[in-house]
Amino acid sequence: MTDEKRAHARRLAAASIAAGEPTAWFETLYAAAEAGEAVVPWADLEPNPMLVAWAQESGHPHGGTALVVGCGLGDDAEYLAGLGYRTVAFDVAPTAVAGARRRFPDSPVRYETADLLAPPADWLGAFDLVFECYTVQVLQGAARAAAIASCGALVAPGGTLLVFARAREDAGDPGAMPWPLTRADMEAFAAGDLAAVHLEALDVGEPPVRRWSGTFRRAVVESAV
Ligand SMILES: C[S@@+](CC[C@H](N)C(=O)[O-])C[C@H]1O[C@@H](n2cnc3c(N)ncnc32)[C@H](O)[C@@H]1O
Repeated sequence: MTDEKRAHARRLAAASIAAGEPTAWFETLYAAAEAGEAVVPWADLEPNPMLVAWAQESGHPHGGTALVVGCGLGDDAEYLAGLGYRTVAFDVAPTAVAGARRRFPDSPVRYETADLLAPPADWLGAFDLVFECYTVQVLQGAARAAAIASCGALVAPGGTLLVFARAREDAGDPGAMPWPLTRADMEAFAAGDLAAVHLEALDVGEPPVRRWSGTFRRAVVESAV
């Protein structure tokens, strides 16, 4: 995401937050992009290389159910479906969801418009893999805390939450959108019976950008009978 591409998105974010609607600007941006009046700065139109590396390194068969948070135009969801996951992918911006469906008309992925801050009740505890990439970093304050808690709540017993995000030092200036996550932000994903099994900050890409990779697993509750 170059600074030039981000400038318009940052102005929309600032206006939306000032109006007390921290997620309203995403639809505004996707709709403007569809009209040819803006660029969606994070839309690379290919699967995230960190996700591809995770899939290749994990060395086990992939399957079960997956939920892709803030799916944008769908490339990561398509990648997970291609690995064998029965995949649901959602975004708060209806224009993004429509764009994903249009790009992948024969996709097995179920694309939905939904809000991470108020997910459908039947998604709670329902997914073997929840993939969150770069959504929490475009939310701040109470919305960020609620988004972090919601990601964990979507994971099934025995399931995995995989999180990628920009990283910053705890004392660092959050700067302008996207607002990188601190270690404390990442550790907050591990709540209740969801435990961190891997958490590291690494330099990714060229020029290198500091990013978190976090894996969290929900304990399987043993039945007493
Ligand atoms: C920075 S983009 C990242 C998109 C994609 N995950 C990627 O890695 O390219 C954040 C995405 O999250 C979506 N989003 C933001 N807040 C959301 C919310 N509360 N619920 C669902 N999606 C949300 C935005 O519309 C946007 O598509």
